[in-house]
Amino acid sequence: MSRMLIQGGRVLDPACGHDGPADVLVEDGRILEVAPGIVARDAERLEAAGCWVAPGFVDLHVHLREPGQEYKEDIASGGRAAVAGGFTAVCCMANTDPVNDDPSVTDYIRDRARQDSPTRVYPVAAATKGLDGQVMSEMVALVQAGAVAFSDDGRTIMDSGMQRRVLEYSRLVERPVMVHAEDRSLVRDGVVNEGPTATRLGLPGNPAAAETVHVARDLLLAELTGAHLHVAHVSTAGAVELIREARSRGVHVTAEVTPHHLTLSDEATLGFDTNTKMAPPLRSREDVEACRQGLADGTLDAIATDHAPHAVHEKEVEFTTAPPGVIGLETAFAVVMELVRSGCLRPMQLIAALSSNPVQVARLPGGLLKRGEPADVVVLDPERSWTYDPLKGYSKSRNSPWAGRELVGRVVATVVGGDLVYHVDRGALLP
Ligand code: DOR
Repeated sequence: MSRMLIQGGRVLDPACGHDGPADVLVEDGRILEVAPGIVARDAERLEAAGCWVAPGFVDLHVHLREPGQEYKEDIASGGRAAVAGGFTAVCCMANTDPVNDDPSVTDYIRDRARQDSPTRVYPVAAATKGLDGQVMSEMVALVQAGAVAFSDDGRTIMDSGMQRRVLEYSRLVERPVMVHAEDRSLVRDGVVNEGPTATRLGLPGNPAAAETVHVARDLLLAELTGAHLHVAHVSTAGAVELIREARSRGVHVTAEVTPHHLTLSDEATLGFDTNTKMAPPLRSREDVEACRQGLADGTLDAIATDHAPHAVHEKEVEFTTAPPGVIGLETAFAVVMELVRSGCLRPMQLIAALSSNPVQVARLPGGLLKRGEPADVVVLDPERSWTYDPLKGYSKSRNSPWAGRELVGRVVATVVGGDLVYHVDRGALLP
């Protein structure tokens, strides 16, 4: 019997509605008790005085790059970056090489994760073969292999008839369809948000309408089919409003927003730093504010990183040719703590957006600190400041817009299934 006592912290557990001082006793990988002043002399002790103790974070949107692009990231390095960021589970996107559009690839990812990753890994399978938008993937077989959702992320299903079919079939397997909402005919060669910043930079613009047009279409198709639509990386005020309105009509829609779209506007791109290039792009200040409000009022359910590693030689090129994407697992909590400090979110709302809400979106186990639940727990110091150096991080890549920045808020410890897999003073511990 193995026991761990997480002692002296403030427990923030949105699903149980618990906010207050308490200890958490873990036994054989599961939560045994949450209460103040637990005495358990035989238990390993994890000190949490001055810290928040919360359900482990769950990231609905990461790119682990394995199989096929292990020079950028692999399941082991991405898994270590995840636990260093407090994520006890991640959903990994299908744009690997080969694409995760076949049960053999889903199996491979799950096997590798079981062997190598300290975090739980839930594969998201491709909605269409090869992410080509032409032929639907075999959803039943993919779900049987362990896929938790479907997405052609990184690409967009432009054919509305195909999108309708994908949504219809997703109902049969009761899994969400996560959409990368960018109308390619509107994006064209755009690399930054269309507007004054693009003009100043002299770079081709990607209009907000590329997102809103696509979100509007998919909301209508979700309504038509009754399927669960999940809008990935929302970046525009218009999309937030469309989702809010559709939900009020009873459409089954959930949505996520990234730490970067919550805190950086397109002005961050003015120095031509390719680590501010992502898809969708950073938007206007008004869009950032709308995303923050959308998260605060519950229109947007989850914070997801869209952790997208790229190698230095790929990013150190001119802006138009650099691949889009930034890493984000290790900085997510510290970056979004700014929303609490500015009064936009209460601590409990922030924790919900990082843990219990994503669990509900992807219908995963856990997400709460209740007796019998898996002991996936994170210990957080909301006040601790640190300077982020990607070279000292666990991701194989360094493409972060926060490199060298002082951040406030630090993951102190991460526990997965009752095992301490990360401690800020000891680093990531191998499974
Ligand atoms: O910025 C992005 N990078 N957005 C995506 O949708 C794909 C991702 C990647 O795979 O690099």
